[in-house]
Amino acid sequence: GKGNFRHFMEKELHEHPAVLGDTLQQYLDPATRAVALPPLPFDPAVVPRLTMSACGSAFLAAQVGRYWIEQLARIPVDADVASELRYREPPLADGGGAILVSQSGETADTMAALRLLRQGGQRVLSLVNVPESSMARESDGALLTVAGPEIGVASTKAFTAQLALLACLAIGFGRARGTLDEATARLLGSTLTEVPGHAAQILEKDEEIRAMAAEVAKARDVLFLGRGALMPIAMEGALKLKELSYIHAEGYAAGEMKHGPIALIDSAVPVIALCPSGPLFEKTASNLQEAAARGGRIMAFTDAVGARSLRGFSERVIELPTVHPFAAPILHAIPVQVLAYHVAVLKGTDVDQPRNLAKSVTVE
Ligand code: M6R
Repeated sequence: GKGNFRHFMEKELHEHPAVLGDTLQQYLDPATRAVALPPLPFDPAVVPRLTMSACGSAFLAAQVGRYWIEQLARIPVDADVASELRYREPPLADGGGAILVSQSGETADTMAALRLLRQGGQRVLSLVNVPESSMARESDGALLTVAGPEIGVASTKAFTAQLALLACLAIGFGRARGTLDEATARLLGSTLTEVPGHAAQILEKDEEIRAMAAEVAKARDVLFLGRGALMPIAMEGALKLKELSYIHAEGYAAGEMKHGPIALIDSAVPVIALCPSGPLFEKTASNLQEAAARGGRIMAFTDAVGARSLRGFSERVIELPTVHPFAAPILHAIPVQVLAYHVAVLKGTDVDQPRNLAKSVTVE
């Protein structure tokens, strides 16, 4: 049941800290902060190339995973939504590996991509939340997210659990490949062990996020911007807002804004920025300033340091805990989901069962 919560989604949002802890515990030794992966279908030390695929939010998690794996392990990664991958006849590397991501393990397009990749000689690893799912059975290997059952049609805790698992994979691959030294791996590992606590702190920002939601609920169009591994999280924010509140939203790479979407910006369009301090901050902040100069209403999620420069031109700034940039995508996913939840509640839509959507899309 949903206990004291109004919706399954609200309950599941509050499970973020627990599922992040449970998932990390499977792959990260809390005492040593070292990642320990079980045997995988491909050897990350030598695999020449990886193909990642999934649908919806799971694909957005895969895209963050791609950034991490390329950065930390220097393995070339292709990432495409399953419904495209399966029809575009991708040339596959000899001895290549694949990583498919799915909460349900039953999504038809992802299943079809899985079969295509296996027929193409790729060794397929599935990341699923349901151990006895079709994808787990048909893969060469499966790793579990430990998110527990997710009832709300909008994926929440399963998404952050996927990110936690992908973060562990990226560290493990980096170690196996020799591209990541032990000290850095431990530092990233300890960054991850702090994520559940930070997630709990973010959930305490509920009032502030709800106040932002009251503004967003009045909009017709909303733009989410992020750069680097925050870009797929901007797309996750837009996807959640669309599916739950039926408000038109787009997620964009911050640097792409000036190549088109900036034409949309006026004082009626909230521009929601995922902009933590770190190596990419200045670039994104200057994109936001351009939007503000055109009357855009900047609403930013950042940290204490980022807030100091964003407050000058932003309508709202919500300060999240200061973390290593590696953890920022996991933590920024939470407030954008909470935001979409509150907008939906304010609009009175069916939060757990949005129109036209099914929890598990088993038709192509
Ligand atoms: O069960 P799966 O993870 O394979 O589902 C993939 C998508 O259908 C799913 O993430 C969908 O986009 C959600 N409704 C997003 O909130």
